[in-house]
Amino acid sequence: MLIAANWKMNLDKQSISEFSKFLKNFKFSKKVKACIFPPMTYIDYLNNIIQNIPISVGAQNCHFKFSGAYTGEVSPIFLRDIGCEYVIIGHSERRILNGEDNNEVKLRAQSAIDANLKVILCVGESLIDREKGNAFNFIEKQLHESLPNGFEDSLIAYEPMWSIGTGKIPSISEIEKMHEHIKKIAFDVSDKKINTLYGGSVNIKNIHNILKIKNVDGVLVGGASLKVKDFLAIYTAAVKHLNNSSKVQEIT
Ligand code: PGA
Repeated sequence: MLIAANWKMNLDKQSISEFSKFLKNFKFSKKVKACIFPPMTYIDYLNNIIQNIPISVGAQNCHFKFSGAYTGEVSPIFLRDIGCEYVIIGHSERRILNGEDNNEVKLRAQSAIDANLKVILCVGESLIDREKGNAFNFIEKQLHESLPNGFEDSLIAYEPMWSIGTGKIPSISEIEKMHEHIKKIAFDVSDKKINTLYGGSVNIKNIHNILKIKNVDGVLVGGASLKVKDFLAIYTAAVKHLNNSSKVQEIT
């Protein structure tokens, strides 16, 4: 089980220092992994102040080359060098605002995997596609066009675009069916069981129901992860959930 906190372009150095103080006395469980994705500029800073806390750090994106004349980009090698374990690739905000298409997402994901980072590959349909009944085909195309080689240790985050930051989430059965669909496609491609996260308006109220959904191996949380109390409440919900169920998904 993985609780991933995508801070996007939020929290400065001072706020990160405040946030981290609350992590120091918190008892983390071996069963539930946590990873924080701060802004690039603070990954190293955060990683240093959480040295003795069992939380991983990750980046919100990386480039598809290891080095070269790519002004403003960040190599996956550099991310690995400063202690990142994960990188988010293909978040819908990057697809929409930075024009990253499936082909580019695949290149970035491949480069991250080649640099020994674990990828959280994001997929998710628009509201129009959902309403047209096209969501399953849309996700299938995204996966076929963007899954890199050697993806086995990575994860796929299902984040419907219309759910991100809106407070709206799909029904339990819609999430369940989509995760099943995603796992099946990923299995067909890689011959391995791939872990899947749900993302989009996850909060302290809906987390309990989301975690109960079959095939959900964790969550990718945006807005609610910016408040340390909410982040830890979501984490605690995951620990309680695992203690009360037979659902054991080890994410290494
Ligand atoms: P949200 O964002 O939790 O604020 O909806 C999730 C994400 O974009 O990863």
